[in-house]
Amino acid sequence: MPYSNFSKFLQEQIDDLKTTGTTKGAELVVVSVKKATNDSGPRFYLDGFKDQEFIRMNSNSYLGLQFDQRMLRAEEEGAKKYGVGPGAVRFISGTYKAHLSLERQLAKFHGREDCMLNSSAYTTVLGVISTLTTPETILISDELNHNCIINAMKLSRPKGKRIYKHNNLEQLEKQIQESVGQCDHLIVVTDGVFSMRGDFAPLDKISEITKKYNDNFPKDIVLVVDDSHGAGAYGATGRGTEEITKASGIDILVATLGKAFGVNGGYVVANGAIIPYLREKNPFYIYTNPITPSETTTAIEALNILDSEDGKSLLSHLSKMTKKFEQGLLDLGYETIPSPHPIVPLLVRDTERTTRLVKFLRDNGVLATGLNYPVVPKGDETIRFQVTADHTPLDIECVLDVLKKFKEQEG
Ligand SMILES: Cc1ncc(COP(=O)(O)O)c(C=O)c1O
Repeated sequence: MPYSNFSKFLQEQIDDLKTTGTTKGAELVVVSVKKATNDSGPRFYLDGFKDQEFIRMNSNSYLGLQFDQRMLRAEEEGAKKYGVGPGAVRFISGTYKAHLSLERQLAKFHGREDCMLNSSAYTTVLGVISTLTTPETILISDELNHNCIINAMKLSRPKGKRIYKHNNLEQLEKQIQESVGQCDHLIVVTDGVFSMRGDFAPLDKISEITKKYNDNFPKDIVLVVDDSHGAGAYGATGRGTEEITKASGIDILVATLGKAFGVNGGYVVANGAIIPYLREKNPFYIYTNPITPSETTTAIEALNILDSEDGKSLLSHLSKMTKKFEQGLLDLGYETIPSPHPIVPLLVRDTERTTRLVKFLRDNGVLATGLNYPVVPKGDETIRFQVTADHTPLDIECVLDVLKKFKEQEG
């Protein structure tokens, strides 16, 4: 069937995005990578930029493990042992010994009884929230939660939904109080680290609130945290926001293997019947392929590295580089949101200036992400920098130098 009318309609939508300046535009294509040396981290070459070298300040691979020889070996060995691709969904014939080992190791890493892998953190969140929501559930969510939580709430059919202002615990508590007698089950859901800002949820205080009101709900208040940016990236031993806030009482923790751990895939850890129930009922687990066996063996290697002395030094170096960059921004007179997490936002608070600064950085060999409305609220226009453990002090100085030049040029 010809679909020229529908295609024309879609083209008009794309043109609208261009007119309002909200298009994502063409993606930058990495064509090759120069390995790190003692003084400088890896440099990236992009399609269309000839021999220009780029320092990447917009990677989620916080531990900088993507070229680690141990990781490369683990991936190769996994593929040699089990072949490429899982071949089927888990319950047909796609469960490998490596999947079970990784699940056991992740459960232990986070101090929980059980773990379930998924193809991504995005689908993990979709599956966890929609599967655990009943017609008697009210969902309560932070307004700045990640898109996967927003879509998980759209997909679920709860009794009600409430959104509280970012990290506003008074409002959260009030919404819990207002839910008493309205439903038999509450799910409170928050990001651990908020990906656009690098700030984090006070999980210790949130869990105190959920514990305080739990007995008012016959089927409990279940606290779900998506710490995709936090797990493996910060905290003295890389346990993320739970470790940073010394929280206890997070019932369900979701995270990704595709950021700090440097691989791909998502997972959920929990106690009791949560994981066995999700294995029975969650369509995002049952009807879609798992991560590949070799991704699995590589993720196991990442966990081994993180839990070794080497892991502690990576985390400590990452934390030092993050502080150096954050202090450098402040010394240059830029605004940021101080946080121990390696996402370091530079708040520009102006769309055109954000676009100019991102271009200036790129023209000077630095890749960073400009975040304009509607990705962030109006007035919060930001450039998001992400520090990784393969950045050297010289790399950080080099980026700060470019930012200094921009200040000299534009004020
Ligand atoms: C909070 C949060 N959850 C989930 C995801 C998605 O992770 P994945 O790539 O594993 O689906 C992201 C990625 O940006 C995120 O920031």
